[in-house]
Amino acid sequence: MSIKYYAKISGTGMYVPDKVLTNFDLEKIVDTTDEWIRTRTGMSERHIASKDQAVSDLAYEATLKAIEAARIRNKDIDMIIVATVSSDHAFPSTACILQQKLGIRGFPAFDISAGCTGWIYAANIAKQYIEAGIAKNILIIGVEVLTKIINWKDRGTCVLFGDGAGATIISRAGERDISRFIDSELSADGTHYDLLIQKAGGSRMPATKETLEENLHTIYMEGNKIFKNAIRSMYSACDIVLKRNNLDVHSIDWLITHQANMRIIQALGKKLKIDNKKVIVNIEKYANTSAATIPIALDEAVRNGKIRHGDLVLLASFGAGLTSGSLLFRM
Ligand code: UT7
Repeated sequence: MSIKYYAKISGTGMYVPDKVLTNFDLEKIVDTTDEWIRTRTGMSERHIASKDQAVSDLAYEATLKAIEAARIRNKDIDMIIVATVSSDHAFPSTACILQQKLGIRGFPAFDISAGCTGWIYAANIAKQYIEAGIAKNILIIGVEVLTKIINWKDRGTCVLFGDGAGATIISRAGERDISRFIDSELSADGTHYDLLIQKAGGSRMPATKETLEENLHTIYMEGNKIFKNAIRSMYSACDIVLKRNNLDVHSIDWLITHQANMRIIQALGKKLKIDNKKVIVNIEKYANTSAATIPIALDEAVRNGKIRHGDLVLLASFGAGLTSGSLLFRM
């Protein structure tokens, strides 16, 4: 008889840089207003990495907290997956750099690129390795320093993003543990890959003087088109997981969605018919930190006592690709 293993979240941690940029600060940089940003997005401020801070530095700080919370040692980690689109270098992976910072080696460490859905993709991968009995403690991180690839002259994008890291330890659950991953649904629709893109710097459009002058190394986004797709794809990912597990939305204790726009979060909540009080939101403080929004919100909710042992939690995200996904687990 084959042994069935389960994965669970055993520790969370987060880190955001000290520097805060408010909507009022942005009013001095581009033609925008605090009122426009607040009413159209729900954002008030965001954290910005310093000149010498890269993605692995933020990931490292968040990781130390997650390791402490999981009560494991660095050497207990047997896989690292970093979800990011703003890695330290094009290669090697940030996961390998993080391994070096943590003073550990000799196991798989890799990055994945799934935009803002990255952490959910990483959690799904970790689930497979734990359930297959191959790994026991996997460190997954959603981390971005998007403010270094923003066009600070484009008011349509520069007001939206912030920097941050959320780290999570996914461990093998004990046989009688009620904490466990239940289900996850991932998807992608590559027909819209060009709606959210960093056009230059890769093999399609290597860096030249012209690509720099035309700002092609910064984030390009058609926000309007993504908006509707975001609600539709997150709803679908949640609906599939709920139906597959014969669950009514009322049995969900907490919903955390990608923090890209307050109006998207509210529209999804309404479509799912979930009680507003169960929807965790922190967009006002951090803005859109891409792959980091969900693990940051999760860590905050665990530490402030909202999400407790045994709670049923549903997560949903969408992002560049266009990717989307959901994850259902008992804390
Ligand atoms: O996490 C990655 C996935 N990305 C997203 O989830 C983004 C999804 N999209 C959105 O959140 C929204 O589409 C945005 C917040 C990006 C934009 O909101 P919107 O309500 O869709 O605005 P819009 O792009 O339709 O623009 C409306 C108006 C335009 O002016 P006109 O043409 O009506 O005169 C824009 O030029 O708002 C203007 N505008 C601004 N005004 C003041 C755009 N950005 C700004 C700004 N300040 N920062």
